Amino acid sequence: MPYNRLQEKVIELISHKNITVDKRLTEICDLLKKNIDYYDWVGFYFANSKEKTLHLKAYAGVATEHTIIPFGKGICGQVAVSSTNFVVEDVQAQDNYISCNINVKAEIVIPLFKNGSNIGQIDIDSNTANPFTKEDEQFLEWLNKQVAEFL
Ligand code: SME
Repeated sequence: MPYNRLQEKVIELISHKNITVDKRLTEICDLLKKNIDYYDWVGFYFANSKEKTLHLKAYAGVATEHTIIPFGKGICGQVAVSSTNFVVEDVQAQDNYISCNINVKAEIVIPLFKNGSNIGQIDIDSNTANPFTKEDEQFLEWLNKQVAEFL
């Protein structure tokens, strides 16, 4: 499905105000995983800034034991600190990486801002090597802006 069609679907999902935030987040994860073939795991982590930890709130894909990640640890924890996109072409080449599944080859993490604060992130794992493009980054930045509005 092309990105503009996906954007329409996201807007429609988000508009369902009678559905809980967690359910809508899960539906977004499912939508992305189903429609982009190299998105094999899609999840949203949110920050507890006092504890300096990230907490998994919604996901599509295999269950992970890494539901709480300290700031600074792994790709996700590094984005909690840096507040910048992190595109990993090859996870094996990363020293500070937390493996959730041995099939994963690449990862992209895009921070989610609300009122200028980094409050969480979308995390996507791919079983394909180096699949992520600038288009993915732009689409996911756009997506996180939409999500920030209904939180
Ligand atoms: N690989 C991530 C951990 C989360 S799992 O991908 C679901 C990381 O290094 O932070």
